[in-house]
Amino acid sequence: MTFEQLLRLMAHRGIAHAPKKDIRRPPQLRRTQYGPMFQAMPCILLSPHPTPIPEAGDDMPTPSRPAVLELIGNTPLVKVSRFDTGPCTLFLKLESQNPGGSIKDRIGLAMIDAAERDGRLRPGGTIVEATAGNTGLGLALVGRAKGYRVVLVVPDKMSTEKVLHLKAMGAEVHITRSDVGKGHPEYYQDVAARLAKAIPDAFFADQFNNPANPLAHETSTAPEIWAQTQHDVDAIVVGVGSAGTLTGLTRFFKRVQPELAMVLADPVGSVMAQYSRSGTLGTPGSWAVEGIGEDFIPSIADLSSVRHAYSISDEESFDHAR
Ligand SMILES: Cc1ncc(COP(=O)(O)O)c(C=O)c1O
Repeated sequence: MTFEQLLRLMAHRGIAHAPKKDIRRPPQLRRTQYGPMFQAMPCILLSPHPTPIPEAGDDMPTPSRPAVLELIGNTPLVKVSRFDTGPCTLFLKLESQNPGGSIKDRIGLAMIDAAERDGRLRPGGTIVEATAGNTGLGLALVGRAKGYRVVLVVPDKMSTEKVLHLKAMGAEVHITRSDVGKGHPEYYQDVAARLAKAIPDAFFADQFNNPANPLAHETSTAPEIWAQTQHDVDAIVVGVGSAGTLTGLTRFFKRVQPELAMVLADPVGSVMAQYSRSGTLGTPGSWAVEGIGEDFIPSIADLSSVRHAYSISDEESFDHAR
């Protein structure tokens, strides 16, 4: 069966439109015979509205929203069954199931959508961010799918795999020092701020100060948890980086379940746990766990629902993760 015959057959059965002359296929499909594949999975091959593939010189169709963006969020909640959870029923929200591999896809989408809406990001623009990696992956996933240039500043302690992943997603990566703090010219957030000023039409996503970051969690992560637990949840454990997750969840649950306790899991060396326990800022140290822990208190942080904060060593974290 040829491609045209397949389309006609599916159109006849109400699955697809009949092929029109202007339907073009990638060259590798032109000579393909669809007999065995059609028998195996007839409905997966074609959408009901086959999209003509434009060729040079054709008028480009109005850009539609990239389909991959629909895969962000609505991650599963899985009950932990092979761990001593004491008196608790413990669930894991599998944010790793987002297409970019982490919870940060949510804010990549939210920050870019918000910047497009208010005109800070225009076609042909560049997205700049300071990131431990995962926000960069989220921004690269969404930004590149929407046709923007993505420039990321990453501290040098981040894994090579993550940096290669960012580059494979189409981002430009600038590596900077991870052993310097806020205010130092090579501190990753300061480097990103400088780059954003130097690059024409640049939008600095600035997850640490961007209200679209906590809002993404208030309007997506939190209501998902509330629905998936059938409105029966007493405590949520989070790590804090930008504090977007903590703040977004805190705002949502203050409205629907004000008794809910937020629990911080913070790396030894981060200032977050001590600050939430005593209101004092300790001296930041260093830690190897990526993405969570902070050496300052982000402006968007809302610690008002934190009831317990634990400082956990790298050794213990890595032991448990393995
Ligand atoms: C995988 C992962 N989880 C959690 C966090 C922390 O989330 P937030 O920045 O919302 O505090 C990060 C931060 O980079 C991360 O990479």
